[in-house]
Amino acid sequence: MTKTSPSTTASDHPDNVSPKLHQHAAVTQEYGTIVKLPNGLSESVCTQSVALLNQTLADTMTLRDLYKKHHWQVVGPTFDQLHLLFDKHYEAQAGLVDLIAERIQVLGGVTIAMAADVAETTRIPRPPCGREPATVQMSRLAEAHEMIIIAARKSAEIVADTGDSGTNDLLVSDVLRTNELQAWFLTEHLVAPTPVSA
Ligand SMILES: [Fe+2]
Repeated sequence: MTKTSPSTTASDHPDNVSPKLHQHAAVTQEYGTIVKLPNGLSESVCTQSVALLNQTLADTMTLRDLYKKHHWQVVGPTFDQLHLLFDKHYEAQAGLVDLIAERIQVLGGVTIAMAADVAETTRIPRPPCGREPATVQMSRLAEAHEMIIIAARKSAEIVADTGDSGTNDLLVSDVLRTNELQAWFLTEHLVAPTPVSA
């Protein structure tokens, strides 16, 4: 049986159904610039808030990834508990990343997004690629939390003074309170064990 050849070939398809790949163009908004949106805030206020939020975002993305690293690499008798705790905190940090990033866009800014840019921007020290003991992991995470907590408190005061209440609320209600809570959960693991008798 002979196979009938199709009546059209791929090259005959009209342009409007063929994907146009390998496209390039100049960026439509440079990083660090603001597009004025109808939010009742001046461009200078938005510029300052976005700069503070992008720093918070870079630090939060780094802490989020530090949690996943430790979730995978944790070792020891508390493996199960810490493996789950680290992932729970990772999920909450990932939620914060999205809230912060979308706040930046709401203000007319451009979010920092890619790992190389985040690595150049974050203030959280780079950990070794290798595995570390669980107590060192937790100590490293606690220090990262404290950096974010101090910066979030300071940034919240700055944006409150300029009238950017939405960013103030995000920094206090979400960033600050989540990090304070997670720092508490971690540091309770770093207290010396209680003897079984007094
Ligand atoms: Fe997992």
